Amino acid sequence: MVIVTNPLQHYGSFRDCLRSPIHKWFTYPAGYSYKLVEAKIKEISLNSDSLIADPFLGTGTTSLAARMMGIPSLGIEAHPFVNWVAKVKLYIQYDLKDIQKRMRYVLREANYLQDNLDIRDLWPELIYKCFTEDNLRKLGALRDVLLSEDQELPSTNFLKLALTATLRIVTTAGAGWPYIAPSKYHARIVNRAAFCEFEKICLAMISDVWSVTSSSLSFASYKIESGDARHFDKYAKPESVDLIVTSPPYMNNYDYADRTRLETYFWGIFHSWSDITKEVRDHLIMAATTQVRVSELGKIRNCPGIAGVDSTVHAELQTIIQSLADMRRIKSGKKTYDSVTAGYFEDMLNVIKGSFIVLKPHGQFVLVLGDSAPYGIHIPTDEFIGRIGVSVGFSSYRLDVIRTRGEKWAHNSQRHKVPLRESIVTLVK
Ligand SMILES: C[S@@+](CC[C@H](N)C(=O)[O-])C[C@H]1O[C@@H](n2cnc3c(N)ncnc32)[C@H](O)[C@@H]1O
Repeated sequence: MVIVTNPLQHYGSFRDCLRSPIHKWFTYPAGYSYKLVEAKIKEISLNSDSLIADPFLGTGTTSLAARMMGIPSLGIEAHPFVNWVAKVKLYIQYDLKDIQKRMRYVLREANYLQDNLDIRDLWPELIYKCFTEDNLRKLGALRDVLLSEDQELPSTNFLKLALTATLRIVTTAGAGWPYIAPSKYHARIVNRAAFCEFEKICLAMISDVWSVTSSSLSFASYKIESGDARHFDKYAKPESVDLIVTSPPYMNNYDYADRTRLETYFWGIFHSWSDITKEVRDHLIMAATTQVRVSELGKIRNCPGIAGVDSTVHAELQTIIQSLADMRRIKSGKKTYDSVTAGYFEDMLNVIKGSFIVLKPHGQFVLVLGDSAPYGIHIPTDEFIGRIGVSVGFSSYRLDVIRTRGEKWAHNSQRHKVPLRESIVTLVK
């Protein structure tokens, strides 16, 4: 095991995805750059007969990078809306003339529709708080026209993603990313008109497709499963995968289900917090206190799965979990970090076991992840994942520390001072 503390420049940073064609179509906490995927593919010389997989596909960084390099891929993503975003990005081979024609049609129809559109009681309250009435009428009209089109057509989905991206551009809500912060509603003075911004985004996306398709000769096949990373071996045959590159949710209380509330409410996919819990939150690996059900608090805290594979990691985890339970009792927020920690490692154990099964001998499982310090108690997530991997059967693990984290809260007296890091954990089968 080696720890490298220099940032590895050639692996880039997640910001690369905010600037690159197609990768940038939907802003999402990607965890890493497509450059890491490219570097790993080159490092182990994958070719068009190989298979790369990502059990936490998100909006598709791994599969998109692989597809553009001619490497077949398999991705799993449990969040239905995020899964859809990945599919729209991965399609690539759009008929651009048809899309331009349809874009003009949609804008023309929405223009007629907007004045007679009754937008009362269409959406949950959040949506009304995030836009001016004029823009909401325009966005609603665009939405209705797009929903009346054939939902299976690639062009409809392309335009729906363009409208999705328009939402964060024209919102008046202050904290546009990652969450919409209720305290900041109307904090931004926005005079961006929805029709105009929608058209600009469509044209930028068209230009991306054009640049990517004119510079690449062949795109590889890809498969995107709407499923659960904890059952990875249900989606791929044993010893069929050459390389896994992924970034699981970090155990930092970030609620992925909430990240897309604005978008899923707007499209009418979900209507309430409890909808989102039932359809998304309950299906993701444990990483946030919002996922902990009070009725299940006691059940997972003993980490029976980890106890079965690694008694040393289990003992260290139990000490941490007990300290977190003690802190919960004395802290006013009463955060259930103890249950989150136990649930996280139990869930990740299943992901690691499945990855071991589907990987070919000598295949690599590359994870980008961050450690955490809830209530100021440090949890060396990268090291634990590496050690659990070896206990499950991987021959070795390696840690590359790519970034230190938490500096932006250094002056916050409420926050702990534990230095945090982001690492690449590489497990070799
Ligand atoms: C750090 S993000 C991955 C981002 C990704 N690299 C990208 O390019 O967008 C982690 C993802 O894991 C997904 N996820 C969480 N639990 C899951 C599970 N049990 N099965 C599949 N996906 C899951 C979340 O919805 C989230 O999109």
